[in-house]
Amino acid sequence: MHNKVLIAGGRGLIGSRLTTLLQEKGYKVAYLSRSRKSEGEIKVFGWDIEKGWIEPGAVESAHYIINLAGAGVADKRWTETFKKEIIKSRTETNNILFKELKRTGYMLKAYVSASAAGYYGEDNGSRWLNESSAAGNDFLAQVCKKWEEAPDKVANLGIRLLKFRIGVVLSMEGGALPQLAKPAKLGLAAPVGSGEQYMSWIHIDDLCHMIIKGMEDSSMEGVYNGVGPEPVTNKHFMETLAGVLQKPFFAPRVPAAAIKLAMGSERAGIVLGSQRVSSERIEKSGFQFQYPVLRTALKDLLK
Ligand SMILES: NC(=O)c1ccc[n+]([C@@H]2O[C@H](COP(=O)([O-])OP(=O)(O)OC[C@H]3O[C@@H](n4cnc5c(N)ncnc54)[C@H](OP(=O)(O)O)[C@@H]3O)[C@@H](O)[C@H]2O)c1
Repeated sequence: MHNKVLIAGGRGLIGSRLTTLLQEKGYKVAYLSRSRKSEGEIKVFGWDIEKGWIEPGAVESAHYIINLAGAGVADKRWTETFKKEIIKSRTETNNILFKELKRTGYMLKAYVSASAAGYYGEDNGSRWLNESSAAGNDFLAQVCKKWEEAPDKVANLGIRLLKFRIGVVLSMEGGALPQLAKPAKLGLAAPVGSGEQYMSWIHIDDLCHMIIKGMEDSSMEGVYNGVGPEPVTNKHFMETLAGVLQKPFFAPRVPAAAIKLAMGSERAGIVLGSQRVSSERIEKSGFQFQYPVLRTALKDLLK
């Protein structure tokens, strides 16, 4: 019998790639989505975050649940309304799943929740951040703190719980890389702000394989940083990107003030903040990266 995986937010960037890799391994995937529009052969269950409603039968359809749902933090300006949505789409989704698991008494093999490396806040990059480092104080850090607290109740039901503090996911299908590659392809790659801020990146396939290992390896639980082993400064990243694209690298930096103007000063932290996040814990679990080196990861994605 196939093992079944229910992915909340499965139509998104990470969920789509994860679906393919799970299917290649013989898993049967279903989605939990705000839209019940069918997705080829994939069964789609509905839910309504505002109403706290989930389609009956959704949680019992699965051996594993992976919650990747969340309003895109880089998508639009952080108005007070949107900030509430950023939080609610992460905490309430986990709450709804918990309540349904409790109501049905259904036992899963594991429950995986996304979180983000933003948990550590905007650091200065001078130290490695590991899973026991403290949460930061800025908005995103506080979002991540609440986000991670929400599924703890699932563990109280006796279900193995994993949380991945995901870094900058590299994919050409979405996220940061296509945005960074656009100017670089025009020969306009340049560091942003001081360029000294650390980016803790991960190739999308490594992240998805990490999630699958977490599902399958019953010795794993708790929080893992979902980042590659080689965080680099923004300047190094842009220089490597330009090199892989065989384009010039511009020394003049894009001033932090311009980024703040374009994004709003709080949201600009996504680009200007520094986080040097360690992958030591996931490596100790036996996980092996396919793309540990930035140049190789970018070559694969931009080929
Ligand atoms: N990509 C990255 O670099 C990165 C880095 C760190 C953390 N993460 C986190 O990892 C998770 C998955 O990332 P991703 O890049 O795959 O995200 P994504 O492409 O934006 O997909 C997220 C999914 O969440 C659901 N969603 C969106 N707004 C929602 C809302 N208001 N309420 C409930 N559900 C909502 C959507 O599914 P439906 O439309 O089907 O409901 C969407 O497909 C996210 O929580 C993200 O914050 C991503």
